[in-house]
Amino acid sequence: MTAAFKIAIAGLGTVGSGVVKALAARGEELSRRAGRKLEITAVSARDKNKARGYAVPGWTDDVLSLAKTDADVVVELIGGEEGIACQLVESALANGKHVVTANKALLARHGLALAQLAEKNGVTLKFEAAAAGGIPIVKALREGLIAQPIDAVKGILNGTCNYILTEMESSGRAFADVLTEAQAKGYAEADPTLDVGGGDTAHKLALLASLAFGTAPDLNAVAVEGIQHITPDDIAFASEFGFRIKLLGVARRMGNKIDQKVHPAMVRVRSALANVSGAANGVLVDAGAAGSFFFSGRGAGEAPTASAVIADIVEAASGAASPVFGRPAASLKRLDAADGKQAVSPWYLRFEVLDVPGVLAAIAGNLAEAGVSIESMIQRGRAPGEPVAIVMITHETAQASVERALKAIGASDKVRARPCMIPMEA
Ligand SMILES: NC(=O)c1ccc[n+]([C@@H]2O[C@H](COP(=O)([O-])OP(=O)(O)OC[C@H]3O[C@@H](n4cnc5c(N)ncnc54)[C@H](OP(=O)(O)O)[C@@H]3O)[C@@H](O)[C@H]2O)c1
Repeated sequence: MTAAFKIAIAGLGTVGSGVVKALAARGEELSRRAGRKLEITAVSARDKNKARGYAVPGWTDDVLSLAKTDADVVVELIGGEEGIACQLVESALANGKHVVTANKALLARHGLALAQLAEKNGVTLKFEAAAAGGIPIVKALREGLIAQPIDAVKGILNGTCNYILTEMESSGRAFADVLTEAQAKGYAEADPTLDVGGGDTAHKLALLASLAFGTAPDLNAVAVEGIQHITPDDIAFASEFGFRIKLLGVARRMGNKIDQKVHPAMVRVRSALANVSGAANGVLVDAGAAGSFFFSGRGAGEAPTASAVIADIVEAASGAASPVFGRPAASLKRLDAADGKQAVSPWYLRFEVLDVPGVLAAIAGNLAEAGVSIESMIQRGRAPGEPVAIVMITHETAQASVERALKAIGASDKVRARPCMIPMEA
């Protein structure tokens, strides 16, 4: 009989508790799948006395000591890109332990160095839960969709943002209102900056881009814009044009460079991404001649995230040893970042302007000067001397040209708020 596969778990929060409970409930079946008995031999968290609602197996006070026990795998479920999580993962890999983690921030920042460390020590580092929670997109990109070069990965990767945008659309309420409610219901953190500002999506996108394009994760190459400035008006106008606003993480090939950005985008209401609602996640992979593949499901929460962690543990126990980012670490390229501002698309533009003669002509002039041509326009109501919203859809235009025009337009004293620009997906 093969020896038991010993598991040390650091962190007993939402995800860690889910993993302990799933192993307690389905350990026998999962052991059969792994080909050896799965056994939790040590766990640690911050507070030994916290009521967890289940029997805590093998409590250990010093979380860093988990890297030095006889465990075969250290499961890091603390979080954070530096500090104790980083120290634990480095130490576990250096001590020849496999590591399973859900920590996107850590891997987006230190992925290459950690992959090198894992390889040097002949162990694996797995992170299925780190991007899109329960959706097995890491495995799909690392092992499934490898025959054809991937052209693009687009994802709704943050459930909090998707929940807020979905609620704004269904209720017509403003961003701040819906955010407060989401916080009260536990869908948003007390400090929501990382979610609504797009940073969390950027972490996940950096990992998916690495797997898709064979590059080292490069968080600094991701241009990031959040959803804080989206208004109920934008959502209503989008709907009139047959679109819905989603926060997308997009990584795409542009020549021999990669463009990575996180931004609100208008997606057609009938598209797969537009129909990812509430706290769900969705990922679209454009795999060239192999076609387009769409994945959707729950991107966060105890059971979906634990499901992904358990899959990694079972894979590690069964001896599967695919490279961390799908290729040997030494072959992960550092491709130049594309100039994303040259990417072309139609744009939705919204201006809050004083309803006085000549404003529209001035805006049209600024747009024409920057080479931006208008396909359609809506002005809602008339309120002489008062602010009104003007919305325009452009023909395909580079982002840089639109930004140039909006800078000039925004400088006018007739323009009351920062003009809004949102790309429209084909
Ligand atoms: N929650 C999700 O749905 C989800 C989805 C995908 C990925 N993730 C990732 O999974 C990881 C864990 O997330 P989570 O939501 O489970 O977090 P969480 O609920 O906040 O739990 C964090 C755990 O880490 C422990 N901890 C914190 N600081 C510690 C320290 N200095 N020393 C020892 N233990 C410490 C806490 O101990 P105490 O319990 O004693 O306070 C707690 O058990 C993060 O990397 C997160 O990004 C989460």
